[in-house]
Amino acid sequence: MTHEPAAMPGRAAPGLDGGSGAGEDLREVMRTARSIRRFTDAPVDDGILRRCLEAATWAPSGGNQQPWRFVVLRSPEARAAIAEGARGALEVTQHVYRLERPAPDDRSSRARSARAVFELHDGAATVPAAVLFAVRHQRGATPLLQGASVYPAMQNFLLAARIERLGTVITGWHVAGEAGLRAAVGVPDEWMLAALVVVGWPRGRHGPVRRKPVEEVAALDRWDQSL
Ligand SMILES: Cc1cc2nc3c(=O)[nH]c(=O)nc-3n(C[C@H](O)[C@H](O)[C@H](O)COP(=O)(O)O)c2cc1C
Repeated sequence: MTHEPAAMPGRAAPGLDGGSGAGEDLREVMRTARSIRRFTDAPVDDGILRRCLEAATWAPSGGNQQPWRFVVLRSPEARAAIAEGARGALEVTQHVYRLERPAPDDRSSRARSARAVFELHDGAATVPAAVLFAVRHQRGATPLLQGASVYPAMQNFLLAARIERLGTVITGWHVAGEAGLRAAVGVPDEWMLAALVVVGWPRGRHGPVRRKPVEEVAALDRWDQSL
């Protein structure tokens, strides 16, 4: 009988790492998987998308039911619905986050980020590819619980795409564009739209995500007790 060597505190489990550094690589992938909103015109190969979707299927779901469906969108009908969703999402974003179109001479980082958001939404109809993540309605499950059976798959997809050097951005376009997307794709009634992820080859670079420090968001036993 073979035994997995025990993990050392503070070090990647030897079984995962196997001396190849795979654990560290995954951490680097997660740390640098920020949203990409600008893409080159290069098409995204089906084979690469398939590899990312395979990684999505390795995610956990309640009872291993795998109540998900991933639809790669490229048709003109789907693109029209995507553009409609992007218009609606932009209106909400502008309102909620008070996002305004920056002046052309504004070189601040805030203006640059805002410009990328507007560029993405304005060009939604021509993004290289998009993937719709759907989850089958499960009786008795709360919406959050059902989301928990599809969002891990979406995150696996995002990380697998990052490994391929593809750029991705999660969007809420499936909300404002729901009716059009349902019609264009033929989504059955018992399926809910969970997310729409835009995919393409980055114009610009991948880079580190900016997040609150763990001390600010994690606790030990009691809500307000530091870890
Ligand atoms: C539920 C959800 C909806 C989002 N919708 C949009 C969107 O409609 N447009 C957009 O540009 N980014 C959208 N994003 C991307 C977030 O703005 C982005 O992930 C966040 O600002 C963190 O930035 P980062 O991914 O670069 O680290 C969405 C993200 C999530 C999780």
